[in-house]
Parts: sequence; C-alpha cells; structure tokens
Amino acid sequence: MGTHNDSSSSAPSRPVRIGLIGVGAVMDYHHVPAIRLDPRCELAAICDQNEKLLQQRQEEWQAPRAISDADALCRDPEVDAVVIATPNHTHRPIALAAVRAGKHVLCEKPLGLNAAEVREMYRAAEAAGVVHMTAFTYRFAPAMRYLRHLLRSGALGEPRHFRSQRFLDWPETSWGWRQYRATAGAGDLYDMTIHRIDFAIDLLGPLKAVCGAVARFAPRDRTADGRACPPSEVDDWSALIGEFDCGATGVWEGTTLAKGYHRNGFGHEWAEVNGSEGSAVYRLHDPNRLLLGKTGKDLAPVDVPERFLKPQGSPRDPSAGEPATVFRYDIVWEFVSAIVEHRQAVPSFLDGLRAQIVADAVLESYADRRWVQVPREPNPAGEA
Ligand SMILES: NC(=O)c1ccc[n+]([C@@H]2O[C@H](COP(=O)([O-])OP(=O)(O)OC[C@H]3O[C@@H](n4cnc5c(N)ncnc54)[C@H](O)[C@@H]3O)[C@@H](O)[C@H]2O)c1
Repeated sequence: MGTHNDSSSSAPSRPVRIGLIGVGAVMDYHHVPAIRLDPRCELAAICDQNEKLLQQRQEEWQAPRAISDADALCRDPEVDAVVIATPNHTHRPIALAAVRAGKHVLCEKPLGLNAAEVREMYRAAEAAGVVHMTAFTYRFAPAMRYLRHLLRSGALGEPRHFRSQRFLDWPETSWGWRQYRATAGAGDLYDMTIHRIDFAIDLLGPLKAVCGAVARFAPRDRTADGRACPPSEVDDWSALIGEFDCGATGVWEGTTLAKGYHRNGFGHEWAEVNGSEGSAVYRLHDPNRLLLGKTGKDLAPVDVPERFLKPQGSPRDPSAGEPATVFRYDIVWEFVSAIVEHRQAVPSFLDGLRAQIVADAVLESYADRRWVQVPREPNPAGEA
C-alpha cells in the first residue's frame, strides 16, 4: 500500500501531511480538531471554492497553504492524504483526482450520488493502492463500539431485531446545496439514514431485501434570512424495513423535521438490537453509556468499559469535552492509523458502497412501491 513512510513500524518517519478540501461545517467540527490531537499528522494545506471562507479558515486554523482549486491540491507533492468534505456531487471527481495522484482519501458520506459513482471511486482507490475511508461517524461512538462487541461475543444471543430512530428538529428554511437532487442526491436518506444503514450492516451483516419510503414535508423556499430560493427537491423523512442475511429484521426511521426533538442540537438517536438473550441501545446524546436489558427486567444504563471509550493508542482524553462531539475525532485517528500501519481503513469505500447500494434500493423500492432485493457487491479482497 502506498504511503510516504518507508518503515514498516507504526511510528511515522514524519507526520502524514493532510490536505483538507471543503472547509465548511463538518471540517471545522470533526476533522480539524482531530488533526490537532494527532501527533502523527499535520495540516499541510486547505482548499475551498469560497475564497472568503478559505481566507478565514487559513487564519483560524493557521494553515500553511490555501488553494481554491481541488485538483491542484490533489496534485500537490507536499500532501500525502486528503479529507474531502464538499457537497455530495463533488465527492466523486475530487476523490478520483486524489487517488490518481496517489493520495490516501478520507471522504465524507454519502460517497456519491448513487452506487455506480461510488463503485467507480472504490475501484479506482483499490487499483491505486491507497488508503480509502468513508466518514461514517457513528461507528466511532463508544456505546456503538461496545454494542458491536456484545453482539460479536454472543452476549445478546441470536440477533433478531434492529431498530434505528434519528429525529432532528431543524428549521424549515433552505438547506442550501443539501436540498437539490443534482448536488445532494437525496435528503434525509443520504444525509442521516445512510449512517444508520452502515452501522446496521456492520453490526448484523449484509441486508438481503428492503422496502422503503421517503417524504418531503416542507417547501424550504426561503433562506434563513428570508430570501426566496428554488424549493427543495429532496426528502425530509426516510424509512425502511429490511431483512438481513442472518435472519434478523430491521426498521429505520429518520427525519429532520421532528418538532420538540432538538436536544441541544444533537436530536434524538436510538439504535437498538434485540437478541434472544438481551437488548442493547445506543443513544447519541449519552454515548458513553449503553442501555442493556434482559427478559423480565427494564432497560438500564451501563457505563461503556474503558477500552471502548477511544481507539487503542489515541491520545484523546475521553473525559474531556462534550461526549456527543469528541468521539468524532476518532475518524481521523483511524484514517492516520491505517496510513502509518499500512493497512486498509475501517470503514472503507467498500462500506460506503454497501450502504449506498441499500440507499439506492430504498429509492427504487419507494418509486416502484415494492420490496427490492439488495444486490450483493463482490469483494475482490475477500474480506468480510
Ligand atoms: N459524517 C458526518 O457526520 C457528517 C456531518 C456533516 C456533514 N457531512 C458531509 O460532509 C460534506 C460537507 O458538509 P458540510 O455540512 O461541511 O457542508 P458545507 O456546505 O458547510 O461545506 C462545504 C464546503 O465545500 C466547499 N466547496 C463546494 N464545492 C467545492 C469544490 N469543488 N472544491 C472545493 N470546495 C468546494 C463550499 O464552498 C463549502 O465551504 C457533505 O457530504 C455532508 O454530507 C458528514
């Protein structure tokens, strides 16, 4: 696997030089604080089409270089790896430019506008031998890590049901690029539910069939400051039921328009597995505790054991900061770990593709008003 490090040990000969493409909200909230925490990497350059924001970020983040052209950043010999956090329709061309230049790529979700785009990205990254990673944030929540461990260790028995609710209380004003098909692909389904499709597959294995629905409730034809804009074309609500290969069933519901579910901006998140021996629930607003229940008893909170609070070796102090925020820094930790350890990142572009295939199947199911068999993506590397 290509990396600038010539030693096979996990200690890098020099920090991994990271270039950031798209310096908006998520880069500021997740990835820049993460780079600051990780001594194995450094911020080398930033890129955004918005010159004013680019300049502002360069000052705020003390970025050595700022470039407005993503292709130029991808070709920059002083950059080893890129993080892509631009609107969804730009992920594919930017990721392809990055892997062509031999850069490792961490790309925001959804990886693309449909599975065909994402398959192209995955195959190009594999062929280039670079580390590729999809920013599926909630896999990194401590309670999610612990839930996964309990499932794998058999503590919950045979998994029977998966249940996910993600309700946000967002304004009904314009979502900007997020509300047009050409730039976002879909709404809540690609923005929120796709994370929950990913972690469900991670927990319970592949889905074989889904039946889905989406709905739009608000025109979103005004900006927050009252200017008129073209109305939304995407869903505010998405739902699916699904059958896993393992025999379990799943039900997902998500919306950005659930009044009263603000919860300090974090909204309501409930993801649950019911097994033959017990139930376990992850909730975003309390990510260092899991709800556990056995038959005849009520669900009760249990502290996540220390070894699941952060990745091994990470210098992050799990007791520092807002718990529902700080686990997000573990995404970059995993990306850099994969680079310095010469291995593939988890979740990779293949995971991004598998989730996208299911999201596409949800749209197809709703358009045709029928159940859809989920096509299986062959895995050339032979991994699970
Ligand atoms: N993993 C998560 O939990 C999570 C959370 C929020 C957003 N996201 C994803 O991150 C991505 C960005 O979301 P955001 O909320 O930060 O959006 P944003 O609108 O705040 O920022 C996007 C930035 O990209 C810039 N940009 C647009 N086209 C560009 C191009 N061709 N080259 C360079 N810069 C370009 C814009 O000027 C803007 O500053 C989206 O794909 C979104 O789905 C993921």
